[in-house]
Amino acid sequence: MNLKIAVLAGDGIGPEIMEQGVAVLNAVATKFGHKVSYEEALCGAHAIDVVGDPFPDETFKVCEEADAVLFASVGDPKYDNNPSAKVRPEQGLLAMRKKLGLFANIRPVTTFDCLVHKSPLKDELVKGADFICIRELTGGMYFGKKQEPTYNETLGTEDALDTNYYSRPEVERILKVAYQYALQRKKHVTVVDKANVLASSRLWRKVAQEVASQYPEVTTDYMYVDNASMRMIQEPRFFDVMVTENTFGDILTDEGSCITGSMGLLPSASTGTSTPVFEPIHGSWPQAKGLNIANPLAQILSVAMLFEYFDLKKEGDLIREAVNASLNSNVRTPEIQVEGGAKYGTKEVGSWIVDYIKKA
Ligand code: IPM
Ligand code: MN
Repeated sequence: MNLKIAVLAGDGIGPEIMEQGVAVLNAVATKFGHKVSYEEALCGAHAIDVVGDPFPDETFKVCEEADAVLFASVGDPKYDNNPSAKVRPEQGLLAMRKKLGLFANIRPVTTFDCLVHKSPLKDELVKGADFICIRELTGGMYFGKKQEPTYNETLGTEDALDTNYYSRPEVERILKVAYQYALQRKKHVTVVDKANVLASSRLWRKVAQEVASQYPEVTTDYMYVDNASMRMIQEPRFFDVMVTENTFGDILTDEGSCITGSMGLLPSASTGTSTPVFEPIHGSWPQAKGLNIANPLAQILSVAMLFEYFDLKKEGDLIREAVNASLNSNVRTPEIQVEGGAKYGTKEVGSWIVDYIKKA
């Protein structure tokens, strides 16, 4: 297969983990005879510094023309404590999602048996937990009508507004994605909403009941978001496919990621109407930049998701096998290394995995 990949390394640890992701992609492509070409493009704080825009048109063009985008991370502390900064790195991420029509964000929460003790939850609760969160990514409060903090004459004080808007087709298409995933898994969908309070959630639930009836082989349950957040730590194994709106999904997937023991392990895919994007769910961790300590596994597993998107299952499987082998051989970055274990950096873990793939 010929694959044209847009490479958006972004900020902080982004370039370091991207280097390992691309090395793994190359190793797998060589092994299976795929031809891959790359085009790098600017995004995030780095793009603001260079061209004044966190998602420049040129980058959009590169993404649009590619078969897939491999993305690392964006964000820089110099913007964090300045809520009124005119341009922010995160706006680049939101622009990318909107412009590429990436309405479905797929975030698997997979636990590794050899790492369960790293989880803040009890081992016996975490062991075997394996679910995916399907987060709607281009609607809701993130993109609804907004009013930035403004002085309101009538009130005599400032006010601000975000609107949690959803239309039926937006809800319908993301639910269908969830049911398609469920068919490949344990056939269990949990629709997470706040239908006891929010009108937008009542639309979600109405549409969900209709879509559920089209998939009689799938078990559906409906859960309020507050309850879901509790259930996730009480009984993470309950879930198979969870589907929810943008803001709830943002919050629940951070909660999900810490169940596994390290945020550095979780990849994601965002798909929609144009080029799909594959990225780790962790951020740019600016404090670790250049220190060769960031875990490259989430980036590498994002490459596995990329291959799987194109139905290249064996390629994805080999990456997963290599990642598991590295963990089982204690070839691990510091945050998940066993006590007294050898020190492996970002590069060393990446090279070990590349070697494993070459020899396989
Ligand atoms: C995420 C991030 C983004 C989000 C931020 C950086 C805009 O937290 O991908 O989950 O809120 O969606
Ligand atoms: Mn988030």
